[in-house]
Amino acid sequence: MTAKLSLPTNSTMLSADFTYGVATAAFQIEGGVKKRLPCIWDTFCATPDKVVDGSNGDQACDHFTLWQQDIELIESLGVDAYRLSISWPRVITKSGQLNPEGVQFYLNILEVLKSKNIKAFVTLYHWDLPQHLEDNGGWLNRQTAYKFSEYADLISKAFGDLVHSYATLNEPFCSSYLGYEIGVHAPGKVGKEYGRKAAHHLLLAHGLAMEVLTKNSPNSLNGIVLNFTPCYAQSASEKDKLATEFADDYFNQWYIKPLFDACYPATLAKLPKAHHPEVLDGDMDIISHKLDFLGVNFYTRAIYKADEKEHFIQIEPPEPTTDIGWEIYPQALTELLISLNEKYSLPPVYITENGAAIDDEINNGEVSDQRRISYYNAHLNAVNDAIEQGIKIDGYFAWSLMDNFEWAEGYLKRFGIVYVDYDTQVRTIKDSGLAYKALISNR
Ligand code: FCB
Repeated sequence: MTAKLSLPTNSTMLSADFTYGVATAAFQIEGGVKKRLPCIWDTFCATPDKVVDGSNGDQACDHFTLWQQDIELIESLGVDAYRLSISWPRVITKSGQLNPEGVQFYLNILEVLKSKNIKAFVTLYHWDLPQHLEDNGGWLNRQTAYKFSEYADLISKAFGDLVHSYATLNEPFCSSYLGYEIGVHAPGKVGKEYGRKAAHHLLLAHGLAMEVLTKNSPNSLNGIVLNFTPCYAQSASEKDKLATEFADDYFNQWYIKPLFDACYPATLAKLPKAHHPEVLDGDMDIISHKLDFLGVNFYTRAIYKADEKEHFIQIEPPEPTTDIGWEIYPQALTELLISLNEKYSLPPVYITENGAAIDDEINNGEVSDQRRISYYNAHLNAVNDAIEQGIKIDGYFAWSLMDNFEWAEGYLKRFGIVYVDYDTQVRTIKDSGLAYKALISNR
């Protein structure tokens, strides 16, 4: 029997003003590479041994061609909102002007969404930095933050009032730590001295863009999307507890504390001076610009123990896990939301990504992804638990609308609630997609 998604009957998540959506990102679905400038992910994919299956974003889901049918698919799911990202290298030329053809691609999408009453949640940066900016130092160069705010200015003027919500950045942790500190994401730089510097320029870019968006688009919900992997100690020992706090500061609080408290975690003082970012006068004021919403992406938690040399090390995630090896631990989502709410004075929160990678099989045109349904069910209820404890959460987005290019994992990990056959580009709604649709339409 097919499992269902169900929430307590009195849940505010069953009221019409709770927003349900699906999410994607430009590089992961679009293809259409010839119609844009190269970005750091093109270069990264072309570098041997960076992406597990040696794949790239040249075709992806060919959304660049199939966007109309994809919006019909979104509509057929009955969702209230669609979270998409804009490809910076598609809309801005090398000399910093708008590229009319690229802008038109998104205008068409935004107009169709509007005509169907689907709210557009637009993310301006989901990791696809134009390669020519990387050639100038990328996020290690302070100027990139100003380039980003110029892009935000031009694009928000071009989009007018078609956008319901703007997020400046998606997951600056991934861009800075994965991209510039351990090098498993583009641009693949490795060095502890890089991560915090890149992070500072990303946060500065966010703050500068917030000023621009507040001016150009005062009626949209403007904010940022952060990812959190809550940190748990392996034991109750003081050593493990301190190590875990260090990890939490390093991976999670680093990106949120500056937004609300205008400073980095105190852990900064424990890092060698050479790893510190260069913070200029006024930077923290810019970074802590008021937010209309906070996007929270959540997939899993991590468990740590103390380590003499590295401060902390993560232990192997216990079962149950999804097929990307991430532990399924929904209670961490409730606990995360509660702890963020205690630490910071949060604006309304949207869960902007949540979902599971499952090794799906398609049989007779059906994908029976029961484990994904149970993942969603547990996490939706975890969100409901947080709401019941007084946290204002206004929406939830499933990651992802459809299977797509999963970064360093290539096409091997499927996160969609819609199955994509990459040879034929045929989309098939999985049982999880049908369950999501039923939950939404039964409100
Ligand atoms: C997040 C990314 C998203 C997707 C999911 C699985 O970190 O924002 O693009 O890859 O993970």
